[in-house]
Amino acid sequence: MKALCTYSKKNLLHNLNVIKAELKNAHPRDTHKVKIMAIIKSNAYGHGCIPVSKILDKEVDAFGIILIEDALKLRDEGISKPIVLLEGVFNRRELEMAAEYGFHVVFHDDDHIDWLYENPLPRKLHAWLKIDTGMGRLGFSLENADEAMRKLKNNSSIYERSIRIMSHFACADNPEHSLNNVQIKEFRKFIKKYDDCEKCFCNSAGIFAFPKMHYDWVRPGIALYGGNPFPVNSTSPLASALENKLKSQLKPVMTFKTKLYKIKEKTTDGQNAGGYGAGSLCSKGMRVGIVPVGYSHGYPRSTQNGRVVRINNTNCRMISQVMMDMMLVDLSDCPDAQVDNDIILWGDGLPIEDVAGDSGRISYDLLCGVGVDHHNKIVYSWDDTSSKLTRNKSQATKETYLIKPDI
Ligand SMILES: Cc1ncc(COP(=O)(O)O)c(C=O)c1O
Repeated sequence: MKALCTYSKKNLLHNLNVIKAELKNAHPRDTHKVKIMAIIKSNAYGHGCIPVSKILDKEVDAFGIILIEDALKLRDEGISKPIVLLEGVFNRRELEMAAEYGFHVVFHDDDHIDWLYENPLPRKLHAWLKIDTGMGRLGFSLENADEAMRKLKNNSSIYERSIRIMSHFACADNPEHSLNNVQIKEFRKFIKKYDDCEKCFCNSAGIFAFPKMHYDWVRPGIALYGGNPFPVNSTSPLASALENKLKSQLKPVMTFKTKLYKIKEKTTDGQNAGGYGAGSLCSKGMRVGIVPVGYSHGYPRSTQNGRVVRINNTNCRMISQVMMDMMLVDLSDCPDAQVDNDIILWGDGLPIEDVAGDSGRISYDLLCGVGVDHHNKIVYSWDDTSSKLTRNKSQATKETYLIKPDI
């Protein structure tokens, strides 16, 4: 039996509106609108970068993605908004392609500048300069960033007027963490010299925790998909308050589910619940449900007990280990459960954060885990069939998509 990932267009748009409302509330008197770059890397966190970008194309200002191959697919599908290659390019040829197709490139390393200076590019390119303010991942160090900016500005292949500056929070989900202030201070010091450049700092958590850092662009990922960017049970008072607020505002886009495959009634006391290790012994008469999903579908194996699935609006306790393709649940609290009833593994009515928290995981990796490469085991579908969310080849040429510098 196949599992099912259903995605809600309505909830995706709802979450985007939650973010837009936050931006608006934070700057009620500003006339300039904070622009939104929707982060759709890793197949839009398992939701499918093509359907997600089709839904959001008219609603956001740009998309952030990693691979140029994926950026090309989006263009092929008719996506018209700027596409930003968040990790930059991986060789000179990709830099040329980015220029040819009008993709924006994040420059974060000397290699990028060297490739830029090898030869003029076939067309002018949109550049973002990434600085490392403390994340320790990608970005020019603060000592080298001015020189990188000078080289970008002086290169005739770059749209000098549209160079943007970006950095990335390491601990925005823990707003009281001391590194946040260090990063903010470093960013502010750097950007002082570049009044004419647009700036971008915040991911989802940053948007809600640091409104003064919104600048010209924000880059939400997880919040778009309805994942709470703040951890459950945080020791940070602000994170707890924001977690609580967003719990009631964001709605899951993905619901991961399956159907009840079989029901077994235990005939004697102390009988093994089933599965490996004989971990759970059942009493006579207990009805045990066989759930045909396991870790090979991307459901997390490790559990610290108390994991539940939802059947007929009732939480049912798991009583076996998560096996490769199955797990077993106690149907005692759901006496009306029948074979073929829907079982929600996470999503609608069962927050993914509960499953993630119980398994030492985070919502991000669970979403990405089921959303990629399970096409023989999981059926993926959007609730909205009115707009064509599957392949829809456009007749566009790359000329159609060359983005003007002032976008
Ligand atoms: C550069 C960059 N910006 C924004 C995001 C979005 O982060 P989040 O999903 O926490 O909103 C990511 C995701 O990791 C990222 O790498």
